[in-house]
Amino acid sequence: MTEPDSDSGRHASERVAIVAERRWAIIVLTIIAALLAMMIFTGLHWAAMPPSRVETIDIKTLHIQGEFVENNLGTSLEKDGRVIVRLIGQQYSFVPQCIVVPAGVPVTFRGTSTDAIHGFIVGRTNANTMLIPGFISTFTTTFPKVGEQLMPCHEYCGTGHEAMWAKVQVISPQDFYVKAKAGERLSCVPG
Ligand code: CUA
Repeated sequence: MTEPDSDSGRHASERVAIVAERRWAIIVLTIIAALLAMMIFTGLHWAAMPPSRVETIDIKTLHIQGEFVENNLGTSLEKDGRVIVRLIGQQYSFVPQCIVVPAGVPVTFRGTSTDAIHGFIVGRTNANTMLIPGFISTFTTTFPKVGEQLMPCHEYCGTGHEAMWAKVQVISPQDFYVKAKAGERLSCVPG
């Protein structure tokens, strides 16, 4: 009578093993499916910047023609109501050095670099991007509160990196629209 006992014991442990294997297979397949879903989502999502959305610019001519000439830098109120900040990062400053934006309104940054890779982050907001020579970086964010924020360069760009920063003045939308009506490029650079 010992044989059937050990036999049924073996069957039982075999069943346990099969159940455990099946459970782990389901867990692994779920993880793989989740990773694939994440890849597809980020691949299709705007933030992943698929190649069709990459905007390029010639760093040799950006000072003399096009969107990033000096008198087009700063904050503008576009005809369709969008607020756009155009800026340049260069060793070792931003142009403009002081940026004006309205609170509570979506603000789109459009920036590029003339030399090395720079980047910026604005205070405690989620405004955070890299500025890469030859490419235009875009970023849209809303500043919730009126106040002044620091905007340091956060990519090591050379010996002057730690001295490279600008200011962002967040003003009330009423003040902003009064100033912006002139149709000029706004900044808070003194003088
Ligand atoms: Cu520019 Cu660091």
